[in-house]
Amino acid sequence: MTPDDRPALADRRGVPDVYRPAEDSALLAAAAAEAVDAGDLVFEVGVGSGWVAERVAAETGARVVGDDLTPEACAAARDRGVEVVRGNLLDPVADGAVDVVLCNPPYLPTPPAAEWDDPLEAALSGGPDGRRVVDPFLDDAGRVLAPGGVVLLLVSTLTDPETVRARAAANGLAAETVREASYPYERLLVLRLTTDAPSK
Ligand SMILES: C[S@@+](CC[C@H](N)C(=O)[O-])C[C@H]1O[C@@H](n2cnc3c(N)ncnc32)[C@H](O)[C@@H]1O
Repeated sequence: MTPDDRPALADRRGVPDVYRPAEDSALLAAAAAEAVDAGDLVFEVGVGSGWVAERVAAETGARVVGDDLTPEACAAARDRGVEVVRGNLLDPVADGAVDVVLCNPPYLPTPPAAEWDDPLEAALSGGPDGRRVVDPFLDDAGRVLAPGGVVLLLVSTLTDPETVRARAAANGLAAETVREASYPYERLLVLRLTTDAPSK
């Protein structure tokens, strides 16, 4: 991926009420392009606009499907040709079904008062500690992995990566950082999570 491919430039059209792809989306897509093989089945939790899923499918040849909580995001992703279902986290996925799970969750700590009772704001809020979505995601991620499967999870230093790693470990998932990018108030990280089984 070159600087010219940055999604903020690639997706100026925007879609109301759908997360516009940003630096976090690009970091996750770049990590996924390295981790995914053409024969893999990939599931992206929270596809948003579908930019990441579309890009990973185009760059790797893999089948990428996903879900999102909001109907607006599902419609936007479908408009890009992404296979998407409306659903919560990994609920739509059968046990042991996927080779790679991708997730750029709501990860920013957000006081309840800042959610403005708005469905998009609520969907993008990481809750008071930033881990409102991350924690239940980690509790279920190992269940859906095929043998040797991997999870790529984007978090911020504001999400407290050590606590995220500890939660992953408590669920039998080892974490290593495979991508990082620094910004004025935070560093974004892509964590690669694997079970004890030999990874792909
Ligand atoms: C930060 S955006 C990322 C969107 C896209 N993956 C990207 O990287 O550009 C997070 C997305 O997760 C969705 N989301 C939030 N909670 C979710 C949940 N429990 N299950 C599925 N999707 C969820 C939101 O609606 C939003 O589209």
